[in-house]
Amino acid sequence: MKFLELMPLTAEMLSAAVELDQLCLGGLWTLDGYRRELESPNSDLIVLQADSSSELLGLGCVWAILDEAHITVLAVHPNYRQQGFGQALLCSLLTLAWQRGLEWATLEVKVSNQIAISLYRKFDFQEVGRRRRYYQDTGEDALILWRKGLQHQEFPRTLQTWKRQIDDRLYQSGWHLSWIRESDRAPLCE
Ligand SMILES: CC(C)(COP(=O)(O)OP(=O)(O)OC[C@H]1O[C@@H](n2cnc3c(N)ncnc32)[C@H](O)[C@@H]1OP(=O)(O)O)[C@@H](O)C(=O)NCCC(=O)NCCS
Repeated sequence: MKFLELMPLTAEMLSAAVELDQLCLGGLWTLDGYRRELESPNSDLIVLQADSSSELLGLGCVWAILDEAHITVLAVHPNYRQQGFGQALLCSLLTLAWQRGLEWATLEVKVSNQIAISLYRKFDFQEVGRRRRYYQDTGEDALILWRKGLQHQEFPRTLQTWKRQIDDRLYQSGWHLSWIRESDRAPLCE
């Protein structure tokens, strides 16, 4: 069994985060950009790491804006895809949003990114609109997806069900995952 851990990004991981961003997202944010995220009280940046190496296998970020959770980064190293890592990251971002008391989660995704769209649908994201020619690199439209009900009474149970399913999926691929702990989080600003 190989061991995996989800944890908050630390200053020592910044350059590895930029490398993974370049590999998966074509350079969405610079080193300074990631440093700003790390310092922002409204941003949760998480990584997925195997205990056998310091390499980052996955990266995720969510911003808290009023009562909305904006998912800004979700990426899994190309060598580690289709094993459940993307689901583990997304489930953790939604857990962090729920813990902050946010009501909705939202994100933009390229219309052609069917893999990511299929992942978001699994977590009940729904299409609510489209931003025309949103991406400068390709001129492609962005779909705007929303996930409501983060503070509904049943949502903590939904999170637990997802986590069990993800644990089973990872286990089948030989991974044991340690989920992010509440005590790992930076304290929230008043
Ligand atoms: C999107 C991404 C994070 C998914 O990571 P992953 O670890 O491969 O995802 P998972 O293994 O958890 O798969 C989750 C779901 O995604 C979808 N999916 C993943 N790979 C897929 C593929 N090759 N074809 C079709 N659907 C796929 C499926 O719905 C899958 O669920 P299933 O296996 O139960 O059918 C990864 O492909 C990635 O980093 N892509 C580049 C960056 C990116 O596009 N990020 C999103 C920006 S909005």
